[in-house]
Amino acid sequence: ERGEYDHFMLKEIHEQPESLARSILPYIDQATQTIQAGETADQIFGDADRAVAIACGTAYYAAQTAKYWFEQIARLAMETDIASEFRYRKPVLPVTGPALFVSQSGETADTLAALRYCRENKAPAIAVVNVPESSIAREAKAIVPTHAGPEIGVASTKAFTAQLAVLAVLALSAAKARGHLKAGDEARYVKSLLSLPRKVSEALEAEADIKAIAQSLVKARDVLFLGRGRYFPLALEGALKLKEVSYIHAEGYAAGELKHGPIALIEQDLPIVVVAPYDALFEKTLSNVEEVRARGGRIILVSDDRGIKLAGNRADHVIRLPDADEIAMPILAAIPMQLLAYFVAVAKGTDVDQPRNLAKSVTVE
Ligand code: F6R
Repeated sequence: ERGEYDHFMLKEIHEQPESLARSILPYIDQATQTIQAGETADQIFGDADRAVAIACGTAYYAAQTAKYWFEQIARLAMETDIASEFRYRKPVLPVTGPALFVSQSGETADTLAALRYCRENKAPAIAVVNVPESSIAREAKAIVPTHAGPEIGVASTKAFTAQLAVLAVLALSAAKARGHLKAGDEARYVKSLLSLPRKVSEALEAEADIKAIAQSLVKARDVLFLGRGRYFPLALEGALKLKEVSYIHAEGYAAGELKHGPIALIEQDLPIVVVAPYDALFEKTLSNVEEVRARGGRIILVSDDRGIKLAGNRADHVIRLPDADEIAMPILAAIPMQLLAYFVAVAKGTDVDQPRNLAKSVTVE
C-alpha cells in the first residue's frame, strides 16, 4: 500500500534506507568487517581474464556504474552492453571470466536471451536479480540477489540503488579474490557500505529544495544531464528517469563529450543537470560548466559541500549530497535524479506510477 505517499514512486524512493540495508547486510560479516559474496562468485572473479555485464534500461546503468568499480578497485576489465545488442552479435566471451546479468524482474526477454547465449558458450552466468524465483535467477550459475522488495512504480528507483549496492559488494569481493584489496581498505569500504542507509536519509533531506527546482523545469522542452567517470551513468539514469515519468526530452552525456556535438544544443535557459560530487575529475567538469554557462545554459549542480563551494556562483541551483567515498557516492547521487524526475512529473500531472506506453517487465523483445 502507498500509505501516506501520493505515489508508489515516492514511497519507494523513501524506502531506500531500508531496502539498501536489506540488500547490503547479507553480504557483510559484521564481526570481522569483511565482505562475503559467496564462494562461487569469489572463485569466478579470482580467475577471471575479463568480465561482461549485460542488462537493459536502468539496470544497464547500474552495470555501467559498476564497471568503474570493477576496473579501478578490482583491476578487472569489464565490458558492459545492453542485452538487445549483445544477444544478436555473437559476442566474444571472456575465456575464464563471468557474464553478469542485472535485472529487477529477472524476466526481461533480451537479458534472458543473452544469458542463454552465455550458458551455451560456457561462460559462468552470475545474476543480480530482485526476484529470486525468476527465469534469470533460475538459469544462472550463481545468484547474488538484491533485496529491494517488490517495486510497484514502473520507473525503477529502489531496485536501481539495490543493484548498485550489490554490484559494489561484488566488485569489492572480486578485488579481494584478485589480491587488490588491502585489509584496511576492505574495512573502510565496509564502513562506507554500512553507512549508506543513514547517508541516503541525509540525501533525502534535499527533497524540498529539489521540489522547488523541479518547478523551474516544468516548461522545459529539453534537459541535458552531464557527468564524468562513475557519474556519467548517473547522468544517463537521470535523463532516463526524467523522460519516463515527465515526458520531457532529456539526454545524458559524458561531460567530456560536450564539445563533440551536444554543445550545439545549449541556448538561453536550457537546464543542464551536472552530476558532479567532488573527485579527481571535478575541475574538468567545472570547466564544462563554464562552457555551458557562457552560452546561457542554466546549471543545476548536484554535488557535495566541497564541490558546491568550488563551483561558487557558477551554479544557478544546487542540490546537496552528503560526503561519501567512491563506493557510496554514486548510489547517493541516484536519489536527486529520482526526486527531480518525480516532482517534475507531479507538477506536469502525468501518471507517475504508470507512465504511458511503459510496462514494468518487458517480457517480449
Ligand atoms: C526504467 C526501468 C527500465 C528497466 C528495464 C530492465 O526506470 O524500469 O529501464 O530497468 O526494463 O528491467 P529489469 O531490471 O526488470 O530487467
